[in-house]
Parts: sequence; structure tokens; C-alpha cells
Amino acid sequence: MLVLGIETSCDETSAAVLRTAGGEAGPEILSNIVLSQDEIHAPYGGVVPELASRQHIKTIDAIVAESLSRAGVGLEAIDLYAVTQGPGLIGSLLVGLSFAKGLAYYFRKPLVGVNHLAAHLEAAFLENAGIPFPSLGLLVSGGHTSLYLLEEPLSRKLLGRTRDDAAGEALDKVAKFLGLGYPGGPVIERLARGGDPKAFPFAVPRTKDRSLDFSFSGLKTAALRHIRERGVSKSSPALADFLASFEEVVARSLLDNLRRGVDESRPRSLILCGGVARNTRLRTRFHEFALDTDLPAFVPSPKLCTDNGAMVAASALKTFARQPDLIVDLDIDAYPR
Ligand code: KG4
Ligand code: ZN
Repeated sequence: MLVLGIETSCDETSAAVLRTAGGEAGPEILSNIVLSQDEIHAPYGGVVPELASRQHIKTIDAIVAESLSRAGVGLEAIDLYAVTQGPGLIGSLLVGLSFAKGLAYYFRKPLVGVNHLAAHLEAAFLENAGIPFPSLGLLVSGGHTSLYLLEEPLSRKLLGRTRDDAAGEALDKVAKFLGLGYPGGPVIERLARGGDPKAFPFAVPRTKDRSLDFSFSGLKTAALRHIRERGVSKSSPALADFLASFEEVVARSLLDNLRRGVDESRPRSLILCGGVARNTRLRTRFHEFALDTDLPAFVPSPKLCTDNGAMVAASALKTFARQPDLIVDLDIDAYPR
């Protein structure tokens, strides 16, 4: 079976073709094309929704064509269409959704609307079909920072989420404040290399009620105070130390909640996913923690962490396996939240 997955929820236009192998093995990724809009949004230091949807409209056709061509298949061979339905930017979502509906309708094939967060978690299963349940999943992206308990395939119980900024958003905002460019996460990672993560003192934030919720706005404020008080700038010698310290406290704060999540829910495995999971320091801390707790830990390879069509296709395949009589539902709508 061949599935085409389309993702346009934010500022990446992506399409992927997956083939199910049958049996225990997960699906095979035949292609996964991602076109980032970083250059378009960089001058603004963040995603401009209207520019994002216009760019999706311009490129979706070519990206889907490229994904088919790399996979060596034609549209008539696709058995199932998958598309991100939400959450995300409404204008951006509608581009992918309308495109996928058009194809599914024309070729009379089923269409599955996919939840973006479920797709990020699914990225981990794409490379490791046998992740043991229950699994504790930490999803860290530009728009979301959440902790989930996955009790069985396709299930997702929210244990905690950010009360203010997402972790990626905090990285993006600090980078913007220093004029380092957009997206902030990768730039901070690059410029923090060699820096001393203990040079700038940051306290790991804790919510007063000891819930499993996250909070990053306090860290962002503390970062801005250090910048002002110590005169940190794009060109100052302390930049690497400052960024390493900030990156470290973001990672520690995420792992702090994960640790409490493990204590409360006693999972059999751990998952880290979402765009910020590309970060080497976070990946390292996550694996150190897993070793410490003796739990098997899974992180998608970097390309599958940031938004991509393969995770959307993979998620749809699981839904379809449960509901094989699914048809094209042209009424499915995008949802921003
Ligand atoms: O999952 P994603 O592609 O989009 C959303 O669903 O939000 O995540 C994008 C976020 C951005 O905030 C970006 O700064 C962050 O992921 N990011 C990173 C790295 N690469 C991307 N953060 C830290 N280190 C990285 N290497
Ligand atoms: Zn995402």
C-alpha cells in the first residue's frame, strides 16, 4: 500500500510517500521532501501567517510532484491520502487540506485528516515499530511543549503542557532579541558550541502546584535580564557561554518534568519528539536520563523531528488500519487549536 502525506501546518511545505511493508516492520519512507520557509520569515524574526499560506500555495504542487518523482511512483498508484488537519496556522492548514481533498476526490481514494501532535509522536514509531507501551512522550516544538502518556497505539493522554511559551518559542524569542536570526533553535545550538553551560546562573522553573505543566516565560525573562545586566550581544565574547547556559536550562527544565512524569506514571519507554528534539544537548540529556532510569528511549532522527510529511503519512496508516472502510470525507475541516 502506498500513502502520500502532506504537511503545511506552519512554515514547512512537505510531502512524503510511504510504502507499507506488511508484517511487524514499520512503513518504508520512499521520499520525504521538506521545503522550509525560513528565509521568508527570517527578516521578521518569526512566522508571518499570511506569508506562510501564500508560500504554501506557490510551492505545494512542486513539492508533491517531487515527492512522487523521488519515490518513483505516479499519483494513480497512491492508495491513501494523509494531510495535517490541525493544530496549526489556519491559512497554512487549508492549503494542504484543500490540495489533498482535491487529489483524493479525483482519484476516489480515502483521505485521513491527521492531528499534528499525534504525527510528531508517530515519527518515533516510524523508525522503531516496537516501542513498548505505556510510553511517556515529551513533545517539544515551536508551538507546543507537552507530556503525554501513550497507553496503546494512537492513544494519547495529556499529562502536562506549557502554561505560556513553548520551549522552541522561548529559544526563538531569545534569538530574535539578540538579532541572531530565525529559527532561533538551530542558531542558538550552533553559536552555543564550546560555551560553558554553567557560566550564567538560571533556576529551573517549577509550577507552584507541582503539576506536570511546563513554563518558559520566566526563563525568557531571566535570559533578557542577563542580556541587559551583563551586556550580552551578538558580538560579545560571552555569547557562547550565555547561549550554552540558556540551552542547558531549557533542556534541564524539560527533563525535570519528564523525571516527575516517570515517577507518576511508571512507563516502559520514553519518547522525545518535535522540532526542538533536534537539539544535540537535549538529545544527550534525554539519553543520559534514560540510562539513569534504565528505560529504553526513542528519538526520531533529526529530519523526522521537525515538521515533515512522513510522520503525517505514518500516522494516517495507523488510523486507516483501524478503519479500512474509510472514504473521502470532503467535509473534514482544518482546526487551528
Ligand atoms: O516541530 P517544528 O518543526 O514546528 C512546530 O510544530 O512548531 O518545531 C520548530 C521549532 C522551532 O522553535 C525551532 O527553533 C526549533 O524547533 N528547533 C530547534 C532546533 N531545530 C529546530 N531547537 C533547538 N535546537 C535545534 N537544533
Ligand atoms: Zn510541528
